[in-house]
Amino acid sequence: MVLNEQTAIKKVKTDIYDHRTSQIFDLVYFDAFSPRIQPECWSRAIFDKLYQSMANDGILVTYCAKGSIKRLLAKVGFEIETLPGPLYKREMIRAVKIQSD
Ligand SMILES: C[S@@+](CC[C@H](N)C(=O)[O-])C[C@H]1O[C@@H](n2cnc3c(N)ncnc32)[C@H](O)[C@@H]1O
Repeated sequence: MVLNEQTAIKKVKTDIYDHRTSQIFDLVYFDAFSPRIQPECWSRAIFDKLYQSMANDGILVTYCAKGSIKRLLAKVGFEIETLPGPLYKREMIRAVKIQSD
């Protein structure tokens, strides 16, 4: 679905572990079930893969605001910001891909 000249949405029904793409993304909405409910979706392997497929200055946002996830995202290479969350969520994470080269 093309929303405008800069934005298109394509829904792909796949397991995040199996998904391969050569596309580079500016924005990742990471809306997995919580790390408590589905810890396998919050692995270093998944965030490394997402990082590799993001543009420099690309942004990943998630409603999760756990310290362990912030530390994991920082290890992957993201710069972490904690933002006020939406309704019923105190905080959320914005992770920005900052690459020095
Ligand atoms: C909190 S819901 C988010 C729903 C989403 N915002 C939407 O509107 O469809 C988490 C979603 O992750 C999906 N999910 C769970 N395990 C997954 C996996 N291994 N790979 C891809 N998606 C997965 C679930 O099917 C569920 O739709």
